[in-house]
Amino acid sequence: MVKTSFKIGNVEFKNRVFVASGTFGYGDEISELLDIKKLGGIFTKSLTLKPRKGNPPPRIVETASGLINSIGLANIGVEKFVSEKLPLLKQLNAVIIANIAGGTIEEYCRVLEKLESANGITAYEINISCPNVKEGGLNFGTDLKATAEITKMVRRLTSKPIILKLTPNVTRVSEFAKAAESEGADAVSLINTLVGMAVNVKTRKPKISTVTGGLSGPAIKPVALAKVYEVVNAVKIPVFGIGGIANTEDALEFLIVGANAIQVGTANFINPNISVSIAEGIEKFCLDNGIADVGMIVGSLDTSGNESVLKSWL
Ligand code: FUM
Repeated sequence: MVKTSFKIGNVEFKNRVFVASGTFGYGDEISELLDIKKLGGIFTKSLTLKPRKGNPPPRIVETASGLINSIGLANIGVEKFVSEKLPLLKQLNAVIIANIAGGTIEEYCRVLEKLESANGITAYEINISCPNVKEGGLNFGTDLKATAEITKMVRRLTSKPIILKLTPNVTRVSEFAKAAESEGADAVSLINTLVGMAVNVKTRKPKISTVTGGLSGPAIKPVALAKVYEVVNAVKIPVFGIGGIANTEDALEFLIVGANAIQVGTANFINPNISVSIAEGIEKFCLDNGIADVGMIVGSLDTSGNESVLKSWL
């Protein structure tokens, strides 16, 4: 038996493998396709106070080893989520981490309050890193004061774990992780997508309606690993590694670098069961290597004989 569980704040999660927000809907439609009980949990699509249609199409385009999206936080709104989705998710005993977005700090707080009074949510991921909206999103995630303020305000409203989802579209992501930590965040998750662009050379039009969007998938994994490495060397709170994880080896890389857990995103669109395969693959890796607890892999990066340039400016 390999120990796969770990704790964030006062909550124990069964596994260190999760599915990332925006790649699994609200968790209900896909429950038939995989055994969600084998995962640590499901991060929902971002929820806002009112339903949102999102951005006009085209809002997804494939690129070399990646995907650019500009969904624009399309979602059914928190009230419909609570009345229509949550009851089924409770029946399925799914561990749900609600991803919350908003145009103002007040909106984040109101969404969290509604979820808190509904019961059935295990933790909250605060999305301050969506690159596809004019209000909120990166305006908060690229502003240290706003990051600290939003963390402080949501922290007051719940004793459940608060996870700040960070953007890589800043110079020093570790500063943002520190700001979240100092205001009581229990964990941070990173990276959200990198701002990206693709052009149709025949029409000379951007391939995404909003011109730029967020790049995800294998193309961003090396960037994500370096950002996670930066953050784990700067804060004490747990870190969720996200960015291009498509197989067991990718996930192990993040754990070795120091992520306490990982989220699988874009790869779900190719194989909705991939996160379960990754969870099983990590367990097998442990068994094959005589490792009793997945936690023993976390932060086991061997840098002896290496000089980290990145650490020199932390
Ligand atoms: O456009 C979107 O809904 C993307 C959200 C995100 O990257 O957080």
